[in-house]
Amino acid sequence: MEDAKFKKEIAEYWDESSKEYDTCPGHGMLGDDEKEAWMKFLNEIIPDGTKKVLDVGCGTGFLTLLLAEMGYTVKGIDLSEGMQADAKKKVKENGFNDRVTFEICDAENTNEEDDEYDLVINRHLLWTLPHPYEAVDEWIRVTKPGGSVIVIDGDWSIGKKAAEERKSKEQKEEDDHGKGYSQEINDNLPLYSGSKRPWDFIKREGYDIEVVELTEVDELERHKYKDNEWMSQDGYKRDAYIIKK
Ligand SMILES: C[S@@+](CC[C@H](N)C(=O)[O-])C[C@H]1O[C@@H](n2cnc3c(N)ncnc32)[C@H](O)[C@@H]1O
Repeated sequence: MEDAKFKKEIAEYWDESSKEYDTCPGHGMLGDDEKEAWMKFLNEIIPDGTKKVLDVGCGTGFLTLLLAEMGYTVKGIDLSEGMQADAKKKVKENGFNDRVTFEICDAENTNEEDDEYDLVINRHLLWTLPHPYEAVDEWIRVTKPGGSVIVIDGDWSIGKKAAEERKSKEQKEEDDHGKGYSQEINDNLPLYSGSKRPWDFIKREGYDIEVVELTEVDELERHKYKDNEWMSQDGYKRDAYIIKK
């Protein structure tokens, strides 16, 4: 499938998902406990001196809102107008229009200048990119020397595999109906269908890279959503990969 058609399908999927995204555990911000845990984590990992931030694949603005509230100047980019419309609405309602801008744009090929941002960040994006290695190069390109790229993602295959094994074939077919990307898209996402892990696309010669577990945030969510088939898995675990430019 050619890249443009592929991305169009992905954008359409997220346009549709935007209707319920913020109500889903692990996706939207569902409570002050979650907000507090995320703020604490971001405060720990975002380097001092950071001012200008690019939130790549910003979706409904999960990180955008938190970062704006923390005082950063933020630009959110995403392929999906539906997802970004929600982010825009929340930014306006919270009075952050003076420090947040948005653009519909491909994370793998941004319209940004070289060395533009103190920080390029994303959450739950890498797994859905057809060219994750090249995408990380693009984010490094637009980061200022001395700045950082932070990728927050999980090795979703672990939890997904365990859940799949427990399900009967019929139940699986019922659950999958109308959900998720088409098989063709899945087959073209190296992190979705392959045996590779986020680290395989992030590791690079010549850069200092730190990996920080989201321990408290993950524990809170696992505990809070213990009846959730997916989030109660041991595999429900994320890392922040911090690349110093
Ligand atoms: C799982 S959501 C994560 C949204 C948000 N970062 C968050 O943490 O809630 C994935 C997002 O990535 C966006 N996306 C997928 N492929 C993209 C691409 N190539 N360029 C920009 N955004 C993309 C989708 O539209 C969607 O909003």
